[in-house]
Amino acid sequence: MSKSRLNGSEATRTIVITGALGHIGSRLIQALPRQFPDAKFVLLDNLSTQRYPSLFSLPSSVDFSFVNADIVSCSLERVLAGANTVIHLAAITDATSSFDNKDEMDQVNYRGTERLAQACVATGTSLIYPSSTSVYGTEKDWVNEDCGPEDLQPQSPYAESKLREEELLQRLGKDEGLKYVTFRLGTIFGISPGMRFHTAVNKFCWQAVMGEPLTVWKTAYNQSRPYLDLDDAVRAIAFLLERNQFTGELYNVLSANATVGEIVDIIRSVIPSLEVTLVEAKIMNKLSYEVSDEKFRAIGFKPIGDLKRSINDTINLLRGANSSFSSLLKDG
Ligand SMILES: NC(=O)c1ccc[n+]([C@@H]2O[C@H](COP(=O)([O-])OP(=O)(O)OC[C@H]3O[C@@H](n4cnc5c(N)ncnc54)[C@H](O)[C@@H]3O)[C@@H](O)[C@H]2O)c1
Repeated sequence: MSKSRLNGSEATRTIVITGALGHIGSRLIQALPRQFPDAKFVLLDNLSTQRYPSLFSLPSSVDFSFVNADIVSCSLERVLAGANTVIHLAAITDATSSFDNKDEMDQVNYRGTERLAQACVATGTSLIYPSSTSVYGTEKDWVNEDCGPEDLQPQSPYAESKLREEELLQRLGKDEGLKYVTFRLGTIFGISPGMRFHTAVNKFCWQAVMGEPLTVWKTAYNQSRPYLDLDDAVRAIAFLLERNQFTGELYNVLSANATVGEIVDIIRSVIPSLEVTLVEAKIMNKLSYEVSDEKFRAIGFKPIGDLKRSINDTINLLRGANSSFSSLLKDG
């Protein structure tokens, strides 16, 4: 039986995934075993978002174990014992509501990441950390990883915490030899068993199928922002696991830059009667910029995600949920 090649020797790879039942994790745990069939997978989640269905129908041939635990209080060194890499997806992730729960955000996101990173140092485990392109904010037309502090303007406590966590990992990398890579992920779209509908593309698909007007933030309609197909997010993580180089690099990961207007047009091509309502939101600025993923492409990663295809898939998934509306779908 073939084993994953690790540091030149044949060994069984153990991969820990925190927040494994969430939007990204629930797709990742279906996909990674196909690429790493001999690996062991330790799935950690505190079930705070009740996404039990993410554990349904996992392939029985794969070595999975589920740990119901909280990253803020459990012994992470015990969880990481014998592991090669941890993919750290556990977090409180709703940027809009983060204004009202800063303390919890700090505790779970910052303190949880700090505890995990320290456990990585103690156990020699490498870390894949998903930050967010929401740490950016610039007057320029485009921005990349080499930008100065003036181009980093997080607009919510959630995004502020992401930037602080990035800085924390840099310190631990420099001072304590933490092996890690940080991904700044674009806003995720696409289907998974633990799917959420609170970020732009998925939320708009839901509203469109339910016959509700799309609630678009007033300033956002013509602003360009980076988006990431869930398929590409999973492929990016697998790419990094395969490459197995954890040198503290930072990469933007995205499938496309797009405006909300362009996303609305794609949805309207499927549901022509679509209406849009402009609403106020706390996370608003007048900046429009594209994020470059050249650095990640330069080491061999090629995104293949597609907004049109994914929007169609999401709408098709929901098609049965509103029968009066599904008759309005062009190809329904
Ligand atoms: N979804 C996006 O658009 C996006 C974009 C950029 C970055 N990210 C980052 O990627 C990571 C995963 O995002 P997601 O969309 O899958 O989030 P999600 O909210 O869908 O999943 C997070 C998971 O973490 C679990 N969790 C929460 N607190 C926990 C705790 N204290 N201990 C253990 N488990 C806990 C939840 O139960 C949930 O299953 C997050 O760090 C997020 O900030 C996501």
